[in-house]
Amino acid sequence: MYPFLLALHSLVRWLVVITLVASLFNAYRGWLQARPFGAGSKQLRIATVTAAHIQLVLGICLYFISPLVHYFLQHFGEAVKMREIRFFGMEHSSMMLLSIILLTIGSAKAKRKTSAREQYKTIAIWYSIAFVILFFSIPWGFSPLTHRPYYRPF
Ligand code: HEM
Repeated sequence: MYPFLLALHSLVRWLVVITLVASLFNAYRGWLQARPFGAGSKQLRIATVTAAHIQLVLGICLYFISPLVHYFLQHFGEAVKMREIRFFGMEHSSMMLLSIILLTIGSAKAKRKTSAREQYKTIAIWYSIAFVILFFSIPWGFSPLTHRPYYRPF
């Protein structure tokens, strides 16, 4: 179960990153070029939050079964000084949670706006902040915090 969830969580990361980048591109273009807010933009806004929520559920499940997190919680005093253990036990999970909350709020706020410009602007601002937090909390191969593979086979 653990290796499967870890591989799935690793794969869904791409879905989150791709939908989020597409949403940002669409939001800035729509905002700056004063485009109408069509069905495609709405679907993209929803797809991004949905992908993030799926990843949240997978992340929470992983949190409960990960031996790494288990070690972190059982030996907090010493584990908090170990970079990789602390990263998954504390930093990654809390920053990702924050990022997903910002995406959810941004999406809900955009939904209530009446003009296309305000909808695009709301998405652009909230999703940009969420993106920065999310991007730097992913254990990319080049991350100075902790690195994991770009693709983990099932
Ligand atoms: C959109 C949000 C998230 C993204 C993009 C993301 C991405 C990743 C990636 C790429 C890995 C490395 C997988 C591997 O080892 O191949 C990982 C591991 C992990 N993530 Fe996330 N994650 C997100 C949210 C969360 C959340 C919200 C939690 C917990 C509440 C969480 C908990 C974990 C845990 C526990 C691990 C693995 C620890 C281990 O190696 O045992 N993640 N995540």
